[in-house]
Amino acid sequence: MKKFLIAGNWKMHKTTAEAVSFAEEIKAKNLENAEDVAVLAPFTQLSELGKALAGSGIKFGAQNVHFEPSGAFTGEISVPMLEEIGVDYCIVGHSERREYFGETDKTVNLKLKALIAAGITPILCVGESLEVREAQGEQTFVASQLIADFEAMPISDVAKVVIAYEPIWAIGTGKTATPDQAEEMCAFIRGVMGGMYSNEVADQMLILYGGSMKPSNAADLLSKPDINGGLIGGASLKADDLAAIADAANALK
Ligand code: PGA
Repeated sequence: MKKFLIAGNWKMHKTTAEAVSFAEEIKAKNLENAEDVAVLAPFTQLSELGKALAGSGIKFGAQNVHFEPSGAFTGEISVPMLEEIGVDYCIVGHSERREYFGETDKTVNLKLKALIAAGITPILCVGESLEVREAQGEQTFVASQLIADFEAMPISDVAKVVIAYEPIWAIGTGKTATPDQAEEMCAFIRGVMGGMYSNEVADQMLILYGGSMKPSNAADLLSKPDINGGLIGGASLKADDLAAIADAANALK
C-alpha cells in the first residue's frame, strides 16, 4: 500500500482561536486516514492546537526551529521547546526561510540532525527558482541541495526525513507543476537519495510535492508513483479543502 502524508503549511496565518476552530472542523470530518494528515502551524498556536487535535489521529508540527538546544538566540525556538509540546513534524528549509531569513544548507543540515535526535520528523523542502528551471538546471540545483542538506547523516537516519519538492515558481502563484513535472523531480530526488545511500532507503522515503496543490489537482499529482503526498499552503487554510485532499490520497491507497 502506498504511504501518504498530507501536510498543511499555514505559514503566518490564523490566530490561536482560529486554529482551534479549524481543528474542531477537521476532526468532525472523521477522516479515514487521519494519521496521514498534519497541520504545520505558527509557534504560538502549537500548544492549543495539539490539545484540540488530541485523540483525532491528526498530527501537528512547527514550520521552523533553531538547531541549538538553548542559548542567546533572541526570538528563536529550540527543539526541546517543540518536544515539550509534543509536535510530530517540523518544516526545515522552506524556500521562504531560505529567501527571507537567511536559511542555508548548513543550517538546514544542523536542524535536520537536531530534530531527528529528538524523534521529531523533519519535512525538508528543496526546489528550484523559475530562473534555474528556465535554464534547465533544476536537477543539478536540487541534487546540490540534497547533498549539502544530508551531509554526514548516517544511513539509519535518512528515511526519518520527509522531503518536499517545492518548485519556487509554483508556490503561492496558482501555477502548479504538471503531474509529470512533479513526478519527474520526485523520482529524480528518490534516485539521488538512492545514489547517496541505497535504493532500499530511498524507497522507504516519503517524498511530497508542494506548490499550489488544491482539491482540483490533488488526485492527479498524488496518483504519480513517486509522489507520497503534498505540502499544501493556501489550500490548507480551509478544513474542507485540506480534508478533500486527504480524501483524494485515501482513495489512492
Ligand atoms: P502553496 O504553498 O500551496 O500556497 O503554493 C506551498 C508551500 O509553500 O508549502
